[in-house]
Amino acid sequence: MSLPVDLVPPVDLVPPAGAVPSTGAVPSTARRPRLVPVPRRSEPLTLADADLQVPLVTGGTVGYANFDYAASAPAARVAVEAITDLLPRYASVHRGAGLPSALCTRRYERAREQVARFLGCRDDDTVVFTRNTTDSTNLLAHALPADATVVVFDSEHHATLLPWRRPVRLPVPDSPADAVRAVHAALRELRRGEHAPGPLLLAVTGASNVTGEIWPIAELAAAAHRYGARIFVDAAQLAPHRPVDLAAADIDYLALSGHKLYAPFGTGVLAGRADWLDAAPPYLAGGGATALVGDATNDVRWSTGAARHEAGSPNVLGAVALGAVCAALGAPTGTRRSTGSAGSPSDCMPGWPPSTASRC
Ligand SMILES: Cc1ncc(COP(=O)(O)O)c(C=O)c1O
Repeated sequence: MSLPVDLVPPVDLVPPAGAVPSTGAVPSTARRPRLVPVPRRSEPLTLADADLQVPLVTGGTVGYANFDYAASAPAARVAVEAITDLLPRYASVHRGAGLPSALCTRRYERAREQVARFLGCRDDDTVVFTRNTTDSTNLLAHALPADATVVVFDSEHHATLLPWRRPVRLPVPDSPADAVRAVHAALRELRRGEHAPGPLLLAVTGASNVTGEIWPIAELAAAAHRYGARIFVDAAQLAPHRPVDLAAADIDYLALSGHKLYAPFGTGVLAGRADWLDAAPPYLAGGGATALVGDATNDVRWSTGAARHEAGSPNVLGAVALGAVCAALGAPTGTRRSTGSAGSPSDCMPGWPPSTASRC
């Protein structure tokens, strides 16, 4: 069975009537979600759990109907194939001289480029591999300038509600359009007053896990920028359902989870502007995040770019699987990122391994 991913309607994000969302992000008023037409993709994404059989209490088995893609989607076959291909030859990236290490480093960096193209990143954006959306929002919170104020709606998933040091919480809006009005009012007020003298960040969901609504992120970005604020979009639910284009929508930061995007658990992404990320202390101190470690105590020069926040041996297989899914889903139309290595055979190790060289 192959499932066109775009046929999964946003309504699958809606909890059963009366259910309390597992995140605790309960809207103050029960509202029906607005169903929006879903653009079709030309190529279906085949899923790995297509033939999953589950036992019945009455005996026998039945084909499993998975109604919980919003929590974790099954893996796409391209993800399984990417892992199966690399698993026999994997090695740590960025720190080995051997051939498997060189291959994995290329695959890992190609995956980063595939994610960047899928998200329509600008050429100078940083794409950090994290564990999931929660990890990504925490990384951004860690990287914020010390005097930054973050504006969030009470309806946010806890991953986007809780990590901030100085949050200003807005009540649950009546609709996505009401959210735009509320953002204008809140940011205008903050800029007028003395409560937020430093940088401002608006943190919003792209598609609500509570109501299934798709939020007008380009309008919210325009509203944020009008008051000199930046915008962070939690795309955990949006990226699996809609094309996302950071450059076109003028989004400053975006987070997603691999396990909601048909890749396995354990890989997420924070993508966006490099300056705050490069100025922040490394998320984790350790190997891979340094440009130089001298003999003297504290004689450390930290890397810039994604490496600064990816210390330790990364989840190569997870990143490569996520990259494969992003490549299969395709870049948003009109993406402005230069071609780079995505889709090109730049991870090819000429002549090695002989049996799979053509698949490099
Ligand atoms: C809108 C939204 N944001 C963030 C998250 C957190 O994702 P993760 O648990 O992968 O960090 C979820 C998960 O359900 C979500 O629905």
